[in-house]
Amino acid sequence: MKVNGKDYRTVWMEGSVVKTIEQRLLPHTFKIVDLPNHRAVAEAISSMLIRGAGAIGDIAGYGMAQVALEAPEEGFWDYVNAGAQRLQQTRPTAQNLFYAVQKVLNAMKAAPNTKEARRIAQEVAQGIADGDAANCEAIGRYGAELIKDGAHVLTHCNAGWLAFADWGSALAPIYMAKRQGKKLFVFADETRPRCQGAILTAWELYQEGVECAVIADNAAGYFMHNGEVDIVITGADRIAANGDTANKIGTYEKAVLAHENGIPFYIAAPSPTVDLKCPSGDAIPIEERSESEVLGAVGITAEGKATYVRIAHANARARNPGFDVTPAKYIKGIITEHGITKPDKIKSIKPG
Ligand code: MRU
Repeated sequence: MKVNGKDYRTVWMEGSVVKTIEQRLLPHTFKIVDLPNHRAVAEAISSMLIRGAGAIGDIAGYGMAQVALEAPEEGFWDYVNAGAQRLQQTRPTAQNLFYAVQKVLNAMKAAPNTKEARRIAQEVAQGIADGDAANCEAIGRYGAELIKDGAHVLTHCNAGWLAFADWGSALAPIYMAKRQGKKLFVFADETRPRCQGAILTAWELYQEGVECAVIADNAAGYFMHNGEVDIVITGADRIAANGDTANKIGTYEKAVLAHENGIPFYIAAPSPTVDLKCPSGDAIPIEERSESEVLGAVGITAEGKATYVRIAHANARARNPGFDVTPAKYIKGIITEHGITKPDKIKSIKPG
């Protein structure tokens, strides 16, 4: 997708260096950072320099390619297994991360020797990122059919191109519909506590020329009840075999509100987000994040300096689940690269 008119992917590899956009500086500063080894990649995922299910899967795949290049000849497999473990321990909820690490690892293990394992790791990692971009473009094509000319779409968090290699999941249908010449308007939930909607989604939509209003998370019901929302599309971090879906905290309440107001609620996600080993949403691990994210906020001063400001009183405590689970019964359809599937049929989608 385009930034100031130039095409970018969210993450890519040049030689042994992984390159990505420093998402914690957006929308005020656009900076590409170099991650020279898999430890730097692991740190980038856990510190949320890069975030979003698809993007952390893609970068974890490249991280495995770095592991393969770094591993000494003696103790090769010990190093590889430790690297895979390090990458898998960075964040717990997004299935794409585990999918990518396992895919590279399995391909390496099937190689006849270490030289070939190193080569295959690079090839498979690149394939994961290319596949992610292609899957998201296909999601865009299928999802755009749901968006009528003049539609008002509500989305939560950031499931745009910054959350994948390219295009995005929930935002791909919006970008595609726009390119088809449809007029549309997006309500972007701000998505406390980290505000991915206000910070990232609003910026992406601006870059693509899509009209958008950031709304406080607790304003979604107001706009739905007033008849101003035609369709809700969100992304997903993990989809269980019964169609229950984990996505950014606050998604569940949007789905219930959409149901109450007779508004279709769709999930958009590529197949590597589907985890058939999770029978239902109850089995999806939910990340619990730092209290400080809820008790304060990060913003930028008039001098352009990023600053954390405390909102709650000094002794206040907080709880901060990063994700919630939307039961399948609230989901009208799941848009994948294969088309639009009823949640109870998601078992027929093979991850990858
Ligand atoms: O904590 P994050 O920003 O990595 O959260 C993941 C997400 O971006 C959202 O939950 C998104 O809607 C699904 S991932 C494309």
